[in-house]
Amino acid sequence: MVKIGILIGSLRKESFSRKLAENVSALFPEGYETEIVEIGNLPLYNQDFDDYNNVPAEYTTFRNKIKEINAVLFITPEYNRSVPAVLKNALDVGSRPYGKSVWDGKPAAVISQSPGNLSAFGANHHLRQSLVVLNMPTVQQPEAYIANVATLFDENGKINKQDTIQFLQSFVDAFVDLIKKYQS
Ligand code: FNR
Repeated sequence: MVKIGILIGSLRKESFSRKLAENVSALFPEGYETEIVEIGNLPLYNQDFDDYNNVPAEYTTFRNKIKEINAVLFITPEYNRSVPAVLKNALDVGSRPYGKSVWDGKPAAVISQSPGNLSAFGANHHLRQSLVVLNMPTVQQPEAYIANVATLFDENGKINKQDTIQFLQSFVDAFVDLIKKYQS
């Protein structure tokens, strides 16, 4: 079973990113399982915590969880034209201590969303900048920018636009192809 960890850049209960995660999870083929990896409980990264006597238990649990998954899907809104702090914090926590990053080599994919038209382009690309240094091979095409997200779901949280579902299926297919490439 190939395990996909989904990291969500929002802690909001009714988060559109979380709803997208639930919809996208259903698009993976047999042999793949998805799990949302919660990041809201991680204390703000502090380099003093790199000392092994000092490591918060939440860091250890999180790092072990990322180690056991095969690939990472990021689904995020944009905060002030960049990556929400909670998601950047999770990246930083996973990247240290130096030389022990849990991200190294893991295939990744990015979906950004916004209630507006710009689709969180800024967050999407700031996130990609970090994925370069973290050495995470990332789906390049198709790029997933989901605009007008507030109109996307029905009352049960299901995506109500067929063309968006088709697009997201093509995105998941490209992610699966990338994962296969790095498994062989
Ligand atoms: C926003 N929002 C926002 N939207 C956007 O398109 N560009 C931006 O720079 C920002 N900046 C921003 C900052 C802060 C602090 C908040 C709280 C919100 C709006 C944001 O896209 C919207 O709230 C998303 O729907 C949030 O995603 P979730 O929580 O539904 O996943």
